[in-house]
Amino acid sequence: MRMVDLIQKKKRGESLTAAEINTIVQGYVKGGIPDYQMSAWLMAVYFKGMSKQEIADLTSAFVDSGDRNDLSAIHGIKVDKHSSGGVGDKLSLVIIPLVASVGVPVAKMSGRGLGHTGGTIDKLESIEGFNTVLDREAFIHNVNTHKMAIVSQSSNLTPADKKIYALRDVTATVDSIPLIASSIMSKKIASGADCIVLDVKVGSGAFMKSIAEAVDLAKTMVEIGKSLNRKTIAVVTDMSQPLGHEVGNANEVKEAIEILKGQGAEDETVVALTLASYMTVLGGAFDDFDTAYTELSQILKTGRAVEKFKELIEIQGGNSKVVDNPSLLPQSKYHTEIKALSDGYVSAIDAEKIGITAMLLGAGRKEKEDPIDYSAGVTMVKKVGDKVNVGDTIGILHTNSEGHEEAVDLFNKAYVFSKIMPESHQYIYEVIH
Ligand code: URA
Repeated sequence: MRMVDLIQKKKRGESLTAAEINTIVQGYVKGGIPDYQMSAWLMAVYFKGMSKQEIADLTSAFVDSGDRNDLSAIHGIKVDKHSSGGVGDKLSLVIIPLVASVGVPVAKMSGRGLGHTGGTIDKLESIEGFNTVLDREAFIHNVNTHKMAIVSQSSNLTPADKKIYALRDVTATVDSIPLIASSIMSKKIASGADCIVLDVKVGSGAFMKSIAEAVDLAKTMVEIGKSLNRKTIAVVTDMSQPLGHEVGNANEVKEAIEILKGQGAEDETVVALTLASYMTVLGGAFDDFDTAYTELSQILKTGRAVEKFKELIEIQGGNSKVVDNPSLLPQSKYHTEIKALSDGYVSAIDAEKIGITAMLLGAGRKEKEDPIDYSAGVTMVKKVGDKVNVGDTIGILHTNSEGHEEAVDLFNKAYVFSKIMPESHQYIYEVIH
């Protein structure tokens, strides 16, 4: 089977067999298929799409390219959560202890961030002493004993996806629904969970810019889950502005603690409760979504969830005093207040621009090995729909570097004002089972 024939077949819009897809994926990983042929095939997929069967076969080929986590030693139904990525998304920090607090085991593998801000692992590492490298025995022990553990992702999961993603990044083939869906789902399946809850973001700060596209991606991923025997639910959520008020690392931990105390911003609290509710229903703790939502809301209010977060920090070697005293988290040297230049309402906040602002301040990585400044970040004092008068503080930039004019400029460009109150956005657009 020559690669040129497989490119030709996809170019004509024909479906490939599982054996043909395996040949492509394995050939590329082993180096037998060069970048230029793989790029041509990816572009053919971009334009011609893939059938449901092809997408499932591509996902399996990614999974089979590397290790699979064996979580069979963990008691109970293991439910994983994945977000398609957004600005200010600190929800894993909330969801892990919240779901664990009702006895559903969360064995979480998470990544570091490359881009605007850190990933969940970076955020947790802003807590003094928090160890995200656990050996398998400690990981399994913590999940069985405390119902939760989090580690940084093993580099041996889905190496084919890793190599192909890097090529997609430089050949303008990232934004293809079959390719995104198989990439995300392969990592979740290799991670070993029994059930998966997906948070598919839509809006200016997300891969998917329209609700129709996000629903299409969500349905594609749920179909993959079904065909590979993983119960999967996808929730399409709003990312037309950043989530909550904080974007960065340590400041996002601080905000996650507020949510866990039942004092968080409404958007984040609703999305966190929705995802956690579906996870706990799939995990068998509750019979239905409404009961789960009511019970989990109570757990936030009574302080049980934040106590569970303290426990997570302690079992992973961190200083849990940050929960009662967030000023123990890393603090930056400079805090620059940004003022409103006119009266009116905040009508939009471009999430991507806010994310880049945070990165310019030091909160994210430009290159893989760049260090992160945990204390750097952005506070959005005003959010969409808020009324402002000239001179009001709309945001605060936190950094240790001098001369951050570019960040100030970008933050101002992210904010749009109008004289009339904007229509509010829903937090949750659709749920796909
Ligand atoms: N996230 C992934 O893991 N893969 C994609 O293709 C896009 C987003």
